[in-house]
Amino acid sequence: FMNPAPNALDTGFKYVPNSGRLRIRAARTVQMTGLVGMDGFTPVPTTVWGYGVHNGPVSWPGRTIELAARQEPLEISWENDLIEGGQVVSHLLPVDSSLHWAYSLNEYAHYTLADDGVPIVTHVHGGRNDSPFDGNPEYFFSPRFRVLGPRWEARYYRYGGSDWNDVAGTCWYHDHALGITRLNVYAGLAGFFIVRDKDDDGLPDNVLGLPAAPYELGFAVQDRMFRHTGELFYPAFPGDPFYSEFIEEEGVVLPEQLFPDGGPTALAEFFGDHMVVNGVIWPKYEVEQRQYRVRLLNGCDSRFMRLRLKVVPAGEIDPGPGEPVPFYVIGSDQSLLEQPVEVDEVGFAPGERLDLVVDFKRVPMGYRVIIENLLGDAPFGGELPKKEDLFPNRRTDRILAFDVVLPRSSVPDTDISVASALGGGINVEDPPPPAVPGVRRLALFEGTDEFGRLQPLLGTAEPVMDVTGREVQGALAWHSPITENPELNSTEIWEIYNATGDAHPVHVHLVYFQILDRQAFKADLVAQPVLQHNGEEGSGYRLENIKLLGKPVSPEPQELTRRDIVTALPGQVTRIKMRFDKPGRFVWHCHILSHEDHEMMRPFHVGTGPF
Ligand code: C2O
Ligand code: CU
Repeated sequence: FMNPAPNALDTGFKYVPNSGRLRIRAARTVQMTGLVGMDGFTPVPTTVWGYGVHNGPVSWPGRTIELAARQEPLEISWENDLIEGGQVVSHLLPVDSSLHWAYSLNEYAHYTLADDGVPIVTHVHGGRNDSPFDGNPEYFFSPRFRVLGPRWEARYYRYGGSDWNDVAGTCWYHDHALGITRLNVYAGLAGFFIVRDKDDDGLPDNVLGLPAAPYELGFAVQDRMFRHTGELFYPAFPGDPFYSEFIEEEGVVLPEQLFPDGGPTALAEFFGDHMVVNGVIWPKYEVEQRQYRVRLLNGCDSRFMRLRLKVVPAGEIDPGPGEPVPFYVIGSDQSLLEQPVEVDEVGFAPGERLDLVVDFKRVPMGYRVIIENLLGDAPFGGELPKKEDLFPNRRTDRILAFDVVLPRSSVPDTDISVASALGGGINVEDPPPPAVPGVRRLALFEGTDEFGRLQPLLGTAEPVMDVTGREVQGALAWHSPITENPELNSTEIWEIYNATGDAHPVHVHLVYFQILDRQAFKADLVAQPVLQHNGEEGSGYRLENIKLLGKPVSPEPQELTRRDIVTALPGQVTRIKMRFDKPGRFVWHCHILSHEDHEMMRPFHVGTGPF
């Protein structure tokens, strides 16, 4: 913990002027990430991609955008500036072109990364966006808008206004290009998008009494691998040092078919060996002995975390022997809670945002607080073998240190406690009688693609009619016709049956949802073929004889907000309720980026066609 972390909320555009047009570009830059880590700081330049204002500097994470809820519309022109010296730049990382990705679409097969550049498209995650401005995978565009995705519509995306998010929360923005989202985000294309309202306006006299700048912090947590030169490393070829469920012991060689044409291949998941916070490896942040608001974003590809705060002596890098410090969760995803909850630890899924208040008065002056990750090297909760020889600096059981060393300023401390009224929470209204919410039974499956690689899939838990009138059921790939077609302004309950062995963070665009409950189930998995994008056959399953077991379990206290991510646990059905109040095409998907790029994503369409 040698390198100071920037506070993401210090960089960026606050209260973007009404009716403003913002031009934000994605471009290449070089940043000091602070290799080799927490106990031996060598500043090393790392080439990354970042977001920044037109003609201005870009950074990873991208500049924070702040918008007041219900304010005048804001238009953002997202620009693809992945160009250097007049030439398009190719990808920073190896691209697996066997996936269903932008340039593998039929009409796009003659485009190449080298000649036409990298397609990107930006999604504001947690925004109640109109369909054309939602930044979905098929709306991608290459530098200078030369190549436009099959559904590309507009150069300017509109946010804000009276039909956009109407309460304060933590959104984020990131790339969402078809089949290369994991790589574009890994390269750096992600940032905070903070929504404010009149109670939570970020000013020192805010109605809720929350800590305000400079005592409000934003940290994007992302795991990465690096080469010794400081460059980002992303394993993709036979023999690459990587770490996934395929390799759990030294000497295991991946079967050749997992590397179509010798690689590069997409991974089932990605787990990095370095924790990076706001673009800096294992950083520290100096604080006063007072309350701070800490917004955290899990911007990892695949890594679930469980966070705990530990007090340790100054300079200590091991949270292990430290004393835990309780802290408050005041919100998550798109809203605040009704009241803060005091916890010792909290789960943290990919794509999720946590809004915390930490009281550093609980920590002796001169001491350090480490954010510890209890799942450490077992991102799914199980034991994985250590490979110290490959990754001498791997310590994914720790994320960030706060050094309690600054003298208290004259700004009065805040007084957030479990008694504070935050006015957030969640309640999705039922449709007025006689209507009742429709129930949709969906499912998560683990199949294999045409090369025999593991392929996570979404699908239905029962037979349904797709929008072409064909009856389908079970696992479906991304390109199959729409099966989720809610009526405009309808309220629905989605029951998501997780028939895989892993937890998946499920994300639904457009809406916020209420997490109702989770319940164990058992069912028969019946194998069925799954048609791939290229007409070849992979395999998946459908469910038969579903039986619910035991009682439904209520959500965790920190989940009682306007959510857009829910962890679907293996062997459980997860029930969420939401209202679909904008028409058109959107997507729902697993937020493990390697999963969504490999077909664990489906379009949905609100209202009438064309589809
Ligand atoms: Cu955070 Cu569909 O994305
Ligand atoms: Cu998943």
